[in-house]
Amino acid sequence: MAPSRGDRPTVGREGVPTAISPAFLMLLADEDLAGRTVLDVGTGRGRLALALAPRSGRVVGIDRDEVALTDARRAAAAAGLTNVEFVGLDAEVGEYGGLEPDAVVAHLCMSSAIAERAGRALTRGAPFAFVAFHADQWRETGRRSRFAWNEDEARVALEGAAFRVEHLSVERDVQAFGSVEEALAAAIGLEEKWRADGRWFRYIKFLEEGGRTLTRAHLHVRARKA
Ligand SMILES: C[S@@+](CC[C@H](N)C(=O)[O-])C[C@H]1O[C@@H](n2cnc3c(N)ncnc32)[C@H](O)[C@@H]1O
Repeated sequence: MAPSRGDRPTVGREGVPTAISPAFLMLLADEDLAGRTVLDVGTGRGRLALALAPRSGRVVGIDRDEVALTDARRAAAAAGLTNVEFVGLDAEVGEYGGLEPDAVVAHLCMSSAIAERAGRALTRGAPFAFVAFHADQWRETGRRSRFAWNEDEARVALEGAAFRVEHLSVERDVQAFGSVEEALAAAIGLEEKWRADGRWFRYIKFLEEGGRTLTRAHLHVRARKA
């Protein structure tokens, strides 16, 4: 995709896009979730859980961040959704079987441990759909997200967890800036997080060396239990 010249704020403070990608929601559009239990792994403030609740039997969002879960419960109540619940659970330690999911989804919280647990909890034919950070996400900062995969890594992890991949694509946006100031402004909401994890100084170095881009890249996947 050609670099885009943009000043739109597409990420929030945690580097999370401000909206669930419509292309990802389209991957779930044909899935019959009525009467079914959907498990949203790493639900955070429940954005994906709340988006799916109106067309699902029941949605369970799990996360280990109790503060985010409190916000999620508040948002569900404000939206008048009574078929959503939020449970504190470490998604890479606990098992999902007790939650009896008919489908597992995840938005920017993915790892082999999560794929393995989804594979153990779902029955044959059940869907597993997620957005993960692609390995190229913020490549200018020289450091991969813990949740980042490239296409091959995703396929290996999914096949290892007994899934058949139906769809795998990369949504990529390379912002190009005319000046260092523009490039810094685009990352302003990320500075605190990036300072803490060492990315900030590498981004500054990239800009000092003449770089003027910032890449966002997400993997969109729909798989089915084999
Ligand atoms: C980038 S945020 C995405 C949140 C949400 N899915 C969204 O898109 O708005 C990642 C979330 O995964 C959660 N998370 C990370 N590792 C986890 C784990 N091992 N168990 C449960 N939640 C986890 C974090 O607490 C955070 O809420």
